Amino acid sequence: MNFFSYKGASFYCEDIELSKLAVQFGTPLYVYSQSCLKHNFFKIKKAFSYPSTLICYSVKANSNVNILKLLVKKGAGLDVVSGGELYRADIAGCAGKKIVYASVGKTESEIRQALNKKILLFNVESESELRLINNLACGNKRKADVALRINPDVSSLTHKYTITGRKESKFGIDIPRVQEIILSSAQVYPCVNFCGIHLHIGSQIMETAPFLKAIRKAIVLIDSINRRRRIIRYLDIGGGFGIDYEGQKKFPLAKLASEVIKLVSSRHLHLIVEPGRYIVGAAGVLLTKVIYIKETSSKRFIIVDAAMNDLIRPSLYGAYHRVVPLKRSQRQRFVTSPDSDIVGPICESGDFLVRGVKLEVKEGDYLAIRDVGAYGFSMASNYNSRPKPAEVLVDGCKVKLIRKRQTWKDLVAKEGGRGLSCIS
Ligand code: LLP
Repeated sequence: MNFFSYKGASFYCEDIELSKLAVQFGTPLYVYSQSCLKHNFFKIKKAFSYPSTLICYSVKANSNVNILKLLVKKGAGLDVVSGGELYRADIAGCAGKKIVYASVGKTESEIRQALNKKILLFNVESESELRLINNLACGNKRKADVALRINPDVSSLTHKYTITGRKESKFGIDIPRVQEIILSSAQVYPCVNFCGIHLHIGSQIMETAPFLKAIRKAIVLIDSINRRRRIIRYLDIGGGFGIDYEGQKKFPLAKLASEVIKLVSSRHLHLIVEPGRYIVGAAGVLLTKVIYIKETSSKRFIIVDAAMNDLIRPSLYGAYHRVVPLKRSQRQRFVTSPDSDIVGPICESGDFLVRGVKLEVKEGDYLAIRDVGAYGFSMASNYNSRPKPAEVLVDGCKVKLIRKRQTWKDLVAKEGGRGLSCIS
C-alpha cells in the first residue's frame, strides 16, 4: 500500500499534495497518514490473530494524543514509560486495564499515579523497584499486578544504543533470579501479584531469530514457574519489529506471530505486544525547505530549514532516511547531481539529515524526509532555541493540525522568576 506517492510531478500523502501543506503550515512540518497508521495497526492485529492478544502501542514512538486516540479507538492498549506518557494515555481515553508500564526508573509519584489508574501490568525491572511498588500498593490497600522483565541475554543486529536484551544492558532481571523472586518471595511482597513475564530485546530488528530465542527462554521460565504454582498468565514480548527504511526488505511479521501464537496458545497465556515503530514509522514524513545550496571545494551542501533538533535519528544513530523532492522535475530522473549532504542550520557538524545523496534541487524547493513517524517528533528538542515543528494528520482529502508550531514566546514561557532567594 502506498500512502505516500507521486501523482504526476507532485508528491502526495493520501489525497493531499504535500507542497500545499508546506505552504499552508510552513516548514519544518511533520505530516502523518491516518490510513497508513490504521493499516499498520490492523496488520499487526491480523498477524497476532490469537484472541487473547493485546496490542499495546508504544507511546514513546510518537506520543501525539491525536494519534493515541485514534489507536485507542481501534482497540489498542498503550505501553508507557513515564508519568508524562501515562498522563497522555489518560487524555487519550485509554482504560487502565489496557496499559502496561515499563522503565528502569519509575519514581514514587509515577508508581502512585499508575496505581491510581489501576494499570494492567507494572513491567518491573529491579528488586528495588519491586519493593517500592509493594510498599506503595500496601499503603493503598491494594495489590499491584506485576510482570517481571527478564534480561534474556540475546543480541540482535541493530544499533548498539537500541539493543536492550544483552546481559550488559540496564534492562530487566536475570532469568534465574526472576524465578527465585517469583517462587520464594511471596511473603516479602504481599501486595504484589506476580502474574506476567515481560521482555523487550531492542528496536529496529529485522529478523525473527533473536525474538524467538528470547521468547523461548521466557517460555521455559514460565513453564518452570507454572509447574510449581500456576500463576503466570501474561507473556509480554515487547516491541522492536523493524521497518523498511531503504525500501529493500520487510520484517517477517506473520512468521514471528505464528510461532509466538503456537507457544502461547498451547499454554493458555495472554499475549501482549508493544509495537511502536512498526505502526507509526512509515506513516510520517518531515517536510523541509531548501534555504541555500553551498558548494565547497570538497562537497555540496543542501542546507534546509529542518535540523537535528527536529529529527535526531541520523545524528544519533547514523540512521538513513530516504528523501524526495515534493515537486519532481522532468530532469530529476536523468541528471546525476554531485553527492550532497542535506544539513540543517544547527552549529554542529553532526547536524545532518541525509548524507551522500544525489538530488536535483534548487534553493526554495521543498523536500520530504521519509519514514520519520516513529522517534521523529517524539525525540525533537529546542536545541539552538529552535521551536518544535507543527504536526498535521491527513485522512484522504482531509487535514487536521494536531500540534501547533511552537513560538519563540513558548521557548521562554517558563523562564520567569523574580530574583534569587535563600532556601531555609
Ligand atoms: N517496549 C519497550 C519496553 C521499549 O523500550 C520500546 C522501545 C518499545 C516497546 C517499542 O519499540 P519499537 O517497536 O518502536 O521498536 N529512538 C530509537 C528507538 C528506541 C526504542 C526504545 N524502546 C530509534 O529512533 O531508533
